[in-house]
Amino acid sequence: MSFDILKEIAKRRGENYRLHKEYLNAQLVRVLNTIGYDRFYERGEGAYLIDRHGDRYLDFLSGFGVFALGRSHPVVKKALSDILEADLPALVQLDCALLPGMLGEALLAKAPPSIKRCFFANSGTEAIEAAIKFVRYATGRSRILYCDNSYHGLSYGSLSISGAKEFRQGFEPFLPDCEAVPFGDIDALKKALVNGDVAAFFFEPIQGKGVNLPPEGYFREVQQLCRQYDTLMVADEVQTGLGRTGKFFAFEHWGIEPDLIALAKALSGGYIPIGAVLCREDIFSKVFHRMDRALVHGSTFGKNPLAMAVGLATLHVLEEEKLVKNAANMGDLLMAALQPLAEKYDFLYEVRSKGLMIGLEFRSPRSLKLKIGWTMLETAQKGLFSQLITVPLFQRYRILTQVAGNNMNVIKLLPPLIITQQEVNTFVNAFEDVLADCHRYPGTIWDFGSTLVKQAMKKS
Ligand SMILES: Cc1ncc(COP(=O)(O)O)c(C=O)c1O
Repeated sequence: MSFDILKEIAKRRGENYRLHKEYLNAQLVRVLNTIGYDRFYERGEGAYLIDRHGDRYLDFLSGFGVFALGRSHPVVKKALSDILEADLPALVQLDCALLPGMLGEALLAKAPPSIKRCFFANSGTEAIEAAIKFVRYATGRSRILYCDNSYHGLSYGSLSISGAKEFRQGFEPFLPDCEAVPFGDIDALKKALVNGDVAAFFFEPIQGKGVNLPPEGYFREVQQLCRQYDTLMVADEVQTGLGRTGKFFAFEHWGIEPDLIALAKALSGGYIPIGAVLCREDIFSKVFHRMDRALVHGSTFGKNPLAMAVGLATLHVLEEEKLVKNAANMGDLLMAALQPLAEKYDFLYEVRSKGLMIGLEFRSPRSLKLKIGWTMLETAQKGLFSQLITVPLFQRYRILTQVAGNNMNVIKLLPPLIITQQEVNTFVNAFEDVLADCHRYPGTIWDFGSTLVKQAMKKS
């Protein structure tokens, strides 16, 4: 009997949430029902998602940063279908396929000159796991430093070096000898390094949870200290890499040269999971230093040809469409339009960004009247105010955004790097409308605020 996946999908149309409720994560279904994000998307095109009624949603979430090229990019699609058609001898394992070599070469050409080796994995967290093993083995040291509030993934090694508390609770004990230091605090880092026994400092150039940028000069001093104490620097560019911040790697903004770089997300072209670690030659050759260690770290699917092909296609499109530059330009436009809103609107405390990684932070307003509304929400649940923005943006203006982390009033924008002035305008106009509405207290948006409070009370 023939199998036609599109017919199978058509037969089950509209069962999405029921199936998830019954067989997958029912709590996610509850969350989506509660905030009204429970749409039935049927297509993705560039910067837009299209639901079963044909309504188009502007996607400023990009699958947590995966869709740098937008959705359904024709070049990536063609690369994928060409690879399928070619019946390549995939995953032989005891061979050296061409595609991983080609993608490794292409990625290393983007990296600082000291970085000469590439390792492939299947996701961001796997890239971090590999980096943890590499730095420990190469240095013979076990201590690892990471930043408060950082996020490096959810498998045990990467979670052990993630500061974001909401993910850690209840999963103890973690990997030993991993210690958090405050992000941006050079004295704390120095104190932690001074014994000369730290293998590596793992960092996100811009923290994804909260969109936190480093203080000026921080990373330069970090590099100096790390060099002084022979501690390796691992840049987690899983979210910030491949042009997101207006440079190919975000660390380029601060003129530093990490020893290892982790990549994932955007390299997938939005299709095939992939992770990569770019690594200094001497570190890599310590880990793989004898023939009997040739397979000492790896993963069955790590170099699969579909992932390699989308990686190459993604790099091609980034170059061809000048998307890194576009990210910088569109980021500047967004900043120029959004920053003045922080002057104008009491709730908006700060807009911070690099390229198309943007954080909008809200704080308790000065106006006494507005403070009543803010306190009502924040007493029910810390960070609830942000939903007063994201939900109307979605419901009224069909713009998909996210709150930048638990218990915080920061909204994160991660639009695809392909956006144009039109999408910038659409977002800015919608955002200002919603913001202006929030400043009318009481008002319709605050009726919704009361519903949020009731839901939050029910949960606790
Ligand atoms: C900075 C950073 N590192 C690592 C990860 C983990 O990547 P993955 O979800 O592919 O395991 C993420 C995912 O959001 C991330 O943002």
